[in-house]
Amino acid sequence: MTAISIRKTSIDTFKGDCLVVPMVQNSSTNNLHPEIKKLSKIAFDKEGFKAELKESILMMTSGLSFRWVMFVGVGDKKSLTSDRIRKSLGTASRTLLKRNFKSLALQHNLESTELSLAIAALEGLMLGNYDFVLYKTKQKKGKSFESIEYFSNHSLPGFEKALKGISVGIEACHRVRDLGSMPPCDLYPESYARLVKNEATKAGVKCEIWNPEYLKKHAFHSVLGVGQGSIKTPRVVKLEYKPKKWTKHVVLVGKGVCFDSGGLSLKDASSMETMKDDMIGSAIVFTTLVAASRLKSDVWITGLMGLVENMPDGNSYKPGDVLRSRSGKTIEVLNTDAEGRLVLADLLDYASDLKPDHIIDMATLTGAALVAVGDGVNAIMGNDQKLVNALIDSGSTCGEMIWQLPLVDDYRELIASPLADVKNITGTRWGGTITAGLFLQEFVRHSSWAHIDLAGCWSSRERDYRPYGPTGEGPRFLLDWLFNL
Ligand code: BES
Ligand code: ZN
Ligand code: ZN
Repeated sequence: MTAISIRKTSIDTFKGDCLVVPMVQNSSTNNLHPEIKKLSKIAFDKEGFKAELKESILMMTSGLSFRWVMFVGVGDKKSLTSDRIRKSLGTASRTLLKRNFKSLALQHNLESTELSLAIAALEGLMLGNYDFVLYKTKQKKGKSFESIEYFSNHSLPGFEKALKGISVGIEACHRVRDLGSMPPCDLYPESYARLVKNEATKAGVKCEIWNPEYLKKHAFHSVLGVGQGSIKTPRVVKLEYKPKKWTKHVVLVGKGVCFDSGGLSLKDASSMETMKDDMIGSAIVFTTLVAASRLKSDVWITGLMGLVENMPDGNSYKPGDVLRSRSGKTIEVLNTDAEGRLVLADLLDYASDLKPDHIIDMATLTGAALVAVGDGVNAIMGNDQKLVNALIDSGSTCGEMIWQLPLVDDYRELIASPLADVKNITGTRWGGTITAGLFLQEFVRHSSWAHIDLAGCWSSRERDYRPYGPTGEGPRFLLDWLFNL
């Protein structure tokens, strides 16, 4: 864990590797230490540095107690936002990490004393501080900053108090990245459930693992149907964090398909490459509960993780099968690759029984969501506009973009089945994210529900603080929402 501290002294007292200085375009450098000011003049006048967004320059100091300084552009003052700061510092963070720097100082140099901007700068550095080396034989330990000292001449009331929340949220984000990176040979329903139980219990979160016998007895036939083609049998994990004095009850539901081959409606080879990430919804549920418990949230939170592997086999469920879901509704399966909605159907039905204040499900449900919003945005739908708005706002506060799609009532006829109550695909390519949302709605007996299709959960390239692979989005915006509920 990185040690974070706040310093009110001059940067002369910093004895680490590198001082990071955010630079607003055309701002005065008079407040900088004379030596740093001199270097910034060289950066601007001789090295062509313009302090543009995400631009950075690393320079060597002389006569100071640290060797390096990095100037990081955050763009012009007019368009300065938390997110621009977070992403600029995040980009710098990745560069600094790759250079193997261990101890950083961050200078408050933002032309504003607004707390959210100061926090965003620190978050950018921390979010980029991630290196997953579990499967690298030559690296025992990933690269990591051991300490970040925040130097500010301004007093920033509330900063110190906010630090714990920031760190815990970012740890949860990084844990989602770890889990999303784990290969399916190591992370399958049984092993995943065990890992969750171990970590959840340590964090004071109650954890029950429901095995196939239990699921059969309690009519989770839709979950079992998806999982029946794999030798790795399904599990449902129920997590519970319940403070003594709770204000609201929230149920978080996550799709946990540990590997999605498509089943008998088999995907092609390249589409399968990233399908170990099809469990990220469930990882968000798990890490958010652990984080909420560590931060002593006053919201009672129940987590439901639907863990299965979707595989082709002699015993697989088949296109044409009819599943009798927990709700009693029958589902005609016409494509075994539309499996996530089947797993969620039973969990949403169970969640509705609990009669909480809100239900939120998270799932890597459709490729169509990626087509609609790209891999930097998550899609949201729901039956409670206030809840949807609040989640979008929390996303925007945290720099995790969420965009609403409509649950078009007209499209409901597309999932009508001639044989059963509903079918799991529509027969048209258009509006695939919306029709998946409408399918889920069939199993929600509750007036405050939101569904998030996690298009932004996997970054196809390294950008700002996000490395290639799982982005870890989810816990931070959920925590923001929970703590403002
Ligand atoms: N896990 C996939 C969705 C997905 C695909 C997420 C690509 C991220 C990237 C889901 O189970 C799936 O296969 N959905 C199908 C649904 C279709 C058969 C109606 C899809 O999107 O193609
Ligand atoms: Zn699928
Ligand atoms: Zn899937």
